[in-house]
Amino acid sequence: MDTKVKIFINDEEYTEYIPNRMLLVDFIRDVAGLTGTHIGCTYEGVCGACTVQLNEQAIKSCLVLAVQADGHSITTVEGLAKGGVLTSLQKAFNDHHALQCGYCTPGILMNMDEFLKEHPNPTEEEIRHGLVGNLCRCTGYAHIVDAIRD
Ligand code: FES
Ligand code: FES
Repeated sequence: MDTKVKIFINDEEYTEYIPNRMLLVDFIRDVAGLTGTHIGCTYEGVCGACTVQLNEQAIKSCLVLAVQADGHSITTVEGLAKGGVLTSLQKAFNDHHALQCGYCTPGILMNMDEFLKEHPNPTEEEIRHGLVGNLCRCTGYAHIVDAIRD
């Protein structure tokens, strides 16, 4: 059975008929075509690669049904930079070489974008605790932590 939803992603409106069981991550990638949001753990909620913001709160979009986002605002990694200007966090990831393959990066950026609003001057311990839901197979996290501290 299909349900009509209206979801705002990066300030664009997407009104669609979708299956009730469609996951938000699949709506973002397959309906909206925003493939910066990744799937890293076959929808088990453990890797964090699918992290987006729902009403400015970081959430794992593989654990949310798209119908639950009806009428709400989503921000994906494509919505961070405005007018081609990277955010301070994105610039810091570049400056500190905080990514290798980059598969985890969109999810970490979306999680840490919210985290830094709540913790504007975090300790390393707070950053590492904040990153607990985002897995990175490449970097060993040291450069990621440096970028977030910066
Ligand atoms: Fe959502 Fe891994 S794909 S947490
Ligand atoms: Fe490759 Fe994090 S940079 S998984």
